[in-house]
Amino acid sequence: MLPLEATSALRDLPDHRRETFELRLERWLPDLRAALEPLYVDHADVLDRLVTLAASAYAARDDDLHRLDQRRTLEPDWFQRPGMVGYAAYADRFADTLAGVAERASYLTELGVGYLHLMPLLTPRPTPSDGGYAVMDFRSVRSDLGTIDDLRALTGVLRSRGISLCLDLVLNHVAREHEWAEQARAGDERKRDYFLVYPDRTMPDAFERTLPEVFPDMAPGSFSWDEELQGWVWTTFNRYQWDVNWANPDVLCEFADIIVFLANQGVEVLRLDAIAFTWKRLGTNCQNQPEVHALTQALRTVARIACPALVFKAEAIVGPQDLVAYLGVGEHYGKVSDLAYHNGLMVQIWSMLASRDARLASRALQQLPDPPSTTAWITYARSHDDIGWAVSDDDAAALGLSGFDHRRFLSDFYAGELEGSWARGLVFGENPATMDRRISGSLASLCGLEQGDPLAVHRILLAHAVILGFGGLPVIWMGDELGLLNDPDWADEPSHREDNRWAHRPRMPWPTPPDEHGIQGAIRHLVQARAALPHLHASVAAEVLDPRDPGVLLVARRHPLGPMVGAYNVMPEPRHVPLSVLRDLRLDVGRLVDHVTGSTPTIRDDAVQLTPYAAAWLTRD
Ligand code: GLC
Repeated sequence: MLPLEATSALRDLPDHRRETFELRLERWLPDLRAALEPLYVDHADVLDRLVTLAASAYAARDDDLHRLDQRRTLEPDWFQRPGMVGYAAYADRFADTLAGVAERASYLTELGVGYLHLMPLLTPRPTPSDGGYAVMDFRSVRSDLGTIDDLRALTGVLRSRGISLCLDLVLNHVAREHEWAEQARAGDERKRDYFLVYPDRTMPDAFERTLPEVFPDMAPGSFSWDEELQGWVWTTFNRYQWDVNWANPDVLCEFADIIVFLANQGVEVLRLDAIAFTWKRLGTNCQNQPEVHALTQALRTVARIACPALVFKAEAIVGPQDLVAYLGVGEHYGKVSDLAYHNGLMVQIWSMLASRDARLASRALQQLPDPPSTTAWITYARSHDDIGWAVSDDDAAALGLSGFDHRRFLSDFYAGELEGSWARGLVFGENPATMDRRISGSLASLCGLEQGDPLAVHRILLAHAVILGFGGLPVIWMGDELGLLNDPDWADEPSHREDNRWAHRPRMPWPTPPDEHGIQGAIRHLVQARAALPHLHASVAAEVLDPRDPGVLLVARRHPLGPMVGAYNVMPEPRHVPLSVLRDLRLDVGRLVDHVTGSTPTIRDDAVQLTPYAAAWLTRD
């Protein structure tokens, strides 16, 4: 039975529209109920509120977007297809404003992009705002970028070019200046319950016993004293980013309403920022709690009812054993996010390049369970964030290495502090207690281009070949396709001075410089080659094989059309792939083609030969 308010929201719609809504409800209501029951005592009431807001959003949705909903329902694998390549950028750094981005859309089309992630652009607090991750208003756009109408216009332009817009939904926290926080500070008790506030240090201390620190140097601890609240408020990230209380169903309803609002502006993918942190439990690290997945399922179901074209992308930078749950395992299978960052692959790309060895990466990647076949990894080599050396002690130990020493080696190597290092990275988030050191820096600078290393371009292309050939939705970080170096002026802006991640968030140089090193041309070629390979559809699992040559990462994909093997030489010297590997997969070695070069690979001594840092995508001709 529809709640009364939902019925009235749908009243003026044509019959077929009303019927579609009812069919969706029939299909998805059980998922919504199942998600809410374990979360909230008054779950029946919460369910009614969510259905009502879904109905209102559905009724308000543009015809164009209703058509998109239908199209996506007919083509649910749209984001898994080999032709899909993503691009991520700050709107202002890419093209000043949202209107500017629309004008630059042809650049993206030429690169083969079908998915654009624009970094936070909803109204943030005044600086510092953690690059926009401290949102003050989820329903308006940062004024220097444009207006909400510009956002709608931009999604229209992109949609007409077959580009889906992805926006961040920061759901772990809001800015201290968000109206909920303002009202809480002004004494509104209901709004105080939107946050986690403690009168003294008892609970914060109890929690902190098992909480890791996210920004140990910039923002130590996970609680901040607020004079106006007269309390310690939970702030996992910076002091001005207040964690919201997801145990309060009002918070869930608020975010559900924000989600359908953004979907109605034409946003097609929501990146669920810092989602791992949303549920807190004493005695744990307050990440990856089971309730996180129930919450996601509730939000996702609301979207499926009101605006099914919308998909979710989990930003969970967590260990391999926790990661796959974000794409749905067990009772949440097929009901949560469709996309999730493959942080492990990203880290291992850098680890392989520095150590010139593919064995640790192979072992680590083999430990990760396969994602559900309806979902896809976001494969990436760089993003706007630093690189944290998520190499597990177990994986390292399996190869006779110390995890601690290897992580240390990687940060020293990429900081350029080791003999023979070609990298020009910056140390980020150094934690003297754990001796953890993360790294900032652009892909090109980390690959040696800034230092003038003669093999830098090969490394840049190898990293791209891995993310484009692994299977999933590869996302190129703005400027990497041009080999942009660290921004030497990153600290000029006072609010950036404390945060060297700005070194790899440069401005796009327009007109783009001549492709001096051939990086852009080579990446375009890889994107085109990829689009023609059905083997790279994300529904096909990536199987990381045991390396036969320690310097070569081997990734097999068994597609009904036949097998494909991706081979990646991570060493600055020639290496090989024994033909026996291909024969074992029943790949016809008499008719091999390498789609990276577009020709027959060189075979000698019963092995495919790989030049230094070469990638090969091998299938039967
Ligand atoms: C995510 C973002 C990061 C930000 C944090 C807090 O991890 O990628 O840039 O600092 O969330 O919102």
